Amino acid sequence: MMQRLNPMSIQPPATIGVVGGGQLGRMMILEARRLGYRTVVFTDEAPGCPAGQVADEEINASFGDSEATDAFLSQIDVCTYEFENIPAAFIANIEAVKPVFPDRRALETSQHREREKLFLREHGIPCAPFAVVDSADSLALAVEEIGTPCVLKTAAFGYDGKGQIKISEPLDAVGVSQVWADLDATRGVLEGWVTYRCEISVVAARGQDGSFAPFPVSENIHTNHILDTTLVPARISDAEAQAAVALAKQVGDALNYVGVYAVELFLTEGGELIVNEMAPRPHNSGHYTIDACDVSQFGMQIRAVVGLPLSPPRLLRPVAMVNLLGDVWPEAEVHPDWSPVLNDQDARLHLYGKRIARAGRKMGHFCVLADDVDTAQSKANAIMAALRG
Ligand SMILES: Nc1ncnc2c1ncn2[C@@H]1O[C@H](COP(=O)(O)OP(=O)(O)O)[C@@H](O)[C@H]1O
Ligand SMILES: [Mg+2]
Repeated sequence: MMQRLNPMSIQPPATIGVVGGGQLGRMMILEARRLGYRTVVFTDEAPGCPAGQVADEEINASFGDSEATDAFLSQIDVCTYEFENIPAAFIANIEAVKPVFPDRRALETSQHREREKLFLREHGIPCAPFAVVDSADSLALAVEEIGTPCVLKTAAFGYDGKGQIKISEPLDAVGVSQVWADLDATRGVLEGWVTYRCEISVVAARGQDGSFAPFPVSENIHTNHILDTTLVPARISDAEAQAAVALAKQVGDALNYVGVYAVELFLTEGGELIVNEMAPRPHNSGHYTIDACDVSQFGMQIRAVVGLPLSPPRLLRPVAMVNLLGDVWPEAEVHPDWSPVLNDQDARLHLYGKRIARAGRKMGHFCVLADDVDTAQSKANAIMAALRG
């Protein structure tokens, strides 16, 4: 029997526009290319950025540049984005002419911690106690109300733990002023510190028809607020995994979301799930899907954006994913000796094409596949130790 084509789907060789020039865009584009789509990147980064290197075309301009925006619009059939720190007005301009997935509401909700937290609260989704602050005085009140330890985060433009200050002890007036000045922002969110058994995330795709396709739950280990290692399957119970997936579905449904997204959660000692944040795009904790699943998070992003049907991806093998930060590079432009990872056929290296390494900069990652997740983790740790020399 011939399969009916989805009448809404956009087929190759149509052009997909990708806003943002980083590694997430790069990995999306690699999937799109394989299917025969054309891709155009719009980025405010310099030419030769990670996504631009693999796209058919790269437009380097500021988000306010209307000529460049028109040039982008004239080429694309559909648009997506690979990071959330984009002015919503830019996406509004694109949306007025071409379909954009995920839409502006998803972007506006998840790019701003205050709106994100209020959205979670409004939908009855469990999150850490929080208060919105906009001055040293309101911070003092919030610290009193929420108690210590707590963490102050900028409302906008935070990532990889940037824009976060942990407050371990009650503060006097001088301390409060200092912390508020250090945040260097006009608005912030003060959050109660969560003591957790582990951090997990659910990466899922939601289709234009509302279909929901979650990936297996990731267990995430952070160092200095930056993701270090992801382990899949997560070492949690089936009931905990199902509850996490149900919360992620609730988030996606409430936003009528289209595309891949991630929901980060804390799992407490008592088995309680607390949503930390969401990302309106493929996520670092979903990189394992390239090597360990029958379809990757980037493949699912492309499927959702062009309007193809989605069904839940399957894990082929247990896996450990380890981030390669600039710290592993002996010098800014000198790579480490990659043989520990290249020599092992169960280890898969992914480099993002960034020329200059800096401490904390995400330069690449590698995955190790094994018969169980503990073996994958210990092999990955051994490879990492060898790379560090
Ligand atoms: N309220 C909290 N309680 C405990 N740990 C936290 C809290 N907020 C952040 N963290 C730690 O910092 C990491 C990064 O914070 P997150 O809010 O996810 O910001 P980012 O946008 O930088 O990913 C989290 O994954 C977690 O390890
Ligand atoms: Mg996070």
